[in-house]
Order: sequence, then C-alpha cells, then structure tokens
Amino acid sequence: MIKSPRGTRDLLPPDTALWNFVEATVRDVFRAYNFHEIRTPIFESTELFARGVGEETDIVSKEMFTWEDRGRAESDKGQSLTLRPENTAGIVRAYIEHKLWERGLNKFFSIGPMFRRERPQKGRYRQFYQIDAEVIGPAAAGSQSPARDAEILELLATLLDRVGITGWTLELNSVGCPEDRAKFNEALRLALAPVVGKMCADCQRRAVTNPLRVFDCKVPEDQPIIETLPTISQFLDESCRAHYEEVKNILNAVGVPYVENQRLVRGLDYYTRTAFEFTHGGLGAQNAILGGGRYDGLSEALGGPAAPGIGFAIGEDRLVLSLMETASAESVVRKPDVYIAPLGAGMNRHAARLARELRRHELAANVVIELGDEAFRLKKSFEAADKMGARYILIVGENEVAADAFALKHLASGEQVTVPRGELAQRILRT
Ligand code: HAM
Repeated sequence: MIKSPRGTRDLLPPDTALWNFVEATVRDVFRAYNFHEIRTPIFESTELFARGVGEETDIVSKEMFTWEDRGRAESDKGQSLTLRPENTAGIVRAYIEHKLWERGLNKFFSIGPMFRRERPQKGRYRQFYQIDAEVIGPAAAGSQSPARDAEILELLATLLDRVGITGWTLELNSVGCPEDRAKFNEALRLALAPVVGKMCADCQRRAVTNPLRVFDCKVPEDQPIIETLPTISQFLDESCRAHYEEVKNILNAVGVPYVENQRLVRGLDYYTRTAFEFTHGGLGAQNAILGGGRYDGLSEALGGPAAPGIGFAIGEDRLVLSLMETASAESVVRKPDVYIAPLGAGMNRHAARLARELRRHELAANVVIELGDEAFRLKKSFEAADKMGARYILIVGENEVAADAFALKHLASGEQVTVPRGELAQRILRT
C-alpha cells in the first residue's frame, strides 16, 4: 500500500468542517480589520529564505525541502528552489516585486501549506498550514508605530476568542534593534566562552556564528546553562524600550492580557523589537499555537525600500487540535436538510428536477440536499437518509409525480405529510 509521506497527513471529513469553520471565521475577522488576501507561490528561490529567514536558523540550515531545478530552458537550469517553510519572506518579496508601497500601508493575510523537514510528532508535521498576516508599508504610513503591534495582538486575541480557543497565553518580549542585538550577541559570546564546551555541538557552532540562536536549543542538558545567560532586555536602547512600553500601554488600555518572557527570541533572524507567541496548554510539547513579531529591516535585506512591518503566523493544525478539545467536528458539519428518494424506474429524472428546483430556490442559501437513486428500494433510501442524519426524506414515486404532490417525512418524529410541489420549498427550507 502506498501511504502519504512521513510528516504529511490527509485532512478528512468531518474534520475538514472544523478547518473550514476556522478559515471562514478568520476571514471575517481579517475583513473587519481591513486585511486583504495575498497568495504567493508554494516554492520560491532558496536565496529568499537564506537571506530573509537567516542561514544560521534551524529552518534554513536543517529543515528546508530544497532541490535544483532541471528545467529545459537554460535560465531554469541549476536554479535552487525551496518549498516555502514560512510565508513572511514570500509576502515581503511580493511587496517589493510589485511595488505595493505605492498603495500606502498594506495589510495582507494568506492561508496555506508550509513545509519543514522536522521530526514529526503531535502538532508538528512536515507539511503544515499557516494563517499568516502581515502589516507592511512606508514608515510615513505609520507601519513602524507601536500602535500597529498592539493592533495585531488585539486582533489575535479577538480572532482566538471568535474561533472559540480559550485558555491561551500571550508571551511578549522585545528583541531590540540590530545594534542592541550586536551588543547582546557580544555579551552572550563572553558568557558562553567558559561554558560552551559542555554544550551540544549545535550550540558550540552557534556560540561562534550567531550566539542568539543558542536560545533555540532544545537539548535538556543545555537548559541549565541557557538559564544563566544574560537577557536581551538589558541591552535595549531608549527608542526600543519606549516602543515596547507603548505596546504594553495600549494592550493594558484595551484589556489584552500578556506575560513578559525575556527568553523569547523566536527562531527566525528577521525579527526586531516586538516578538511574541501565543501558547495553549492542551498542546503538549508543541504548545505554540502561533508566533510573530516585527521585522523592520527585512524589506531592505531583500533588496527593497525601507518598509517596517509586523505580522504573525498561526499554526492552523495546532489551532484545530486545540479546538478539538472542546468542539467535535461533527458539531459544525451541516447535515442534509432533505434526502430526495426516487422510487422505481424512470424516477431519477423527476427527482433531479425537484432537487434542482429546491437547490436554486431563493430560500436555499445554506441548504444541504442529498439525492438518492431509483435503483434503491424504499428501505435502502431510508437507511441512507438516516445514516447521513438527514432531517426529511422526500419520496418521488409514480403516484407522487402524477399528483404533483410528494410524501415528506420528518425522520426524527416520523410525521409524514403530502406536500404539493409549490409548497415544498416553504416546508423544507423554512423549518
Ligand atoms: P514560526 O514561529 O516559525 O513563525 O511559525 C508560526 C507557527 O506555525 C508556530 O507557532 C506553529 O504554530 C506553526 N508551526 C511551525 N512549524 C510547524 C510544524 N512543523 N508543524 C505544525 N505547525 C508548525 C513563522 O513562520 C513566521 N513567518 C511568523 C511571522 C509572520 N512573523 C512575522 N510575520
């Protein structure tokens, strides 16, 4: 048997109803906050992620699905391509490529699959889905303002509430600007020098190339050492400190709760100033339901103009996992309102006509109609209607067609009435 590749999975009904519920709800929230959808390619040039996310990050150094293009055209040959491990770099690339700043401040969202070659476990997959949002634009349009950070965080609190996730924690930090981080990295180098020999091979390498990445280390034996290292908060300059204070002031004013976590540095290199994660207790080891932050220098790093930005990505798989603790997928699946049962030879065409009339009726906006087959005996039609949880069964037999009135049975109560064609819609769709 051929199975889906390791770390990938099939999303099946009824679970897909929860996914659709989540996506419909977040689309409503994005609309209310004036975000617009952007769709970028699922693969990009490898260089985009190397420059955007950072060569030293786990994502770029270990986890990307990368290949060399074997295209026929000379221009394709040898180009290194990568399945996107995240979408901030892709959206900023599109922002630069299409000169989207000409439209002022831009608020984008996207929903789609990402790919990372990680060790699969609960809540961690090689193909996973992100709901991503980015606010990016010229500083003159206000994109560098702490008001944007606070608005993004308030949006997230609203979005999680609307979807029905309770018990989340917003963890907040500031990772400062590049100058602050240069000082912090220096201090880390110094602090690591006497102890790094006792740490894992990755940390030994990071201590030289990019000491900040030591905080990504998951090796249990290294954690006591990491606990003793300095924190970024001691190195923030005045403007970064003021920015961070203002974000917190607005969050306090609007009543979005947060906890400060000075060890939160995030696993991607583009972050500046505000960095955050929302965690959820029910998720086990992979407890980050989403992460994000500000990336004021990313556009320039990718060859674009100055364009401060901030955004987040929700792990949709993890969001749905958390939801499943309280809501079953069954509860959001819409069951058929009516099962139309043609009874006997020649009845399929009459049933099809009735189904078409009902489906196109002005009252039929959210109605679900299932159509049986004339080859089924009545008993089999009833069983099928029952199995799918239909509310009514509508019998289309020779007598009914001749009278142009049809037997309609309410399956839960067993009540059966004969309803003229013209009154069927009222009867089925209104109740
Ligand atoms: P990230 O923290 O790498 O950030 O990923 C965001 C979220 O994606 C995580 O919190 C997690 O819920 C989910 N996620 C990551 N890897 C996996 C996986 N292997 N399986 C399942 N879920 C996963 C970013 O990707 C940034 N681009 C976020 C951002 C947007 N920052 C600014 N704008």
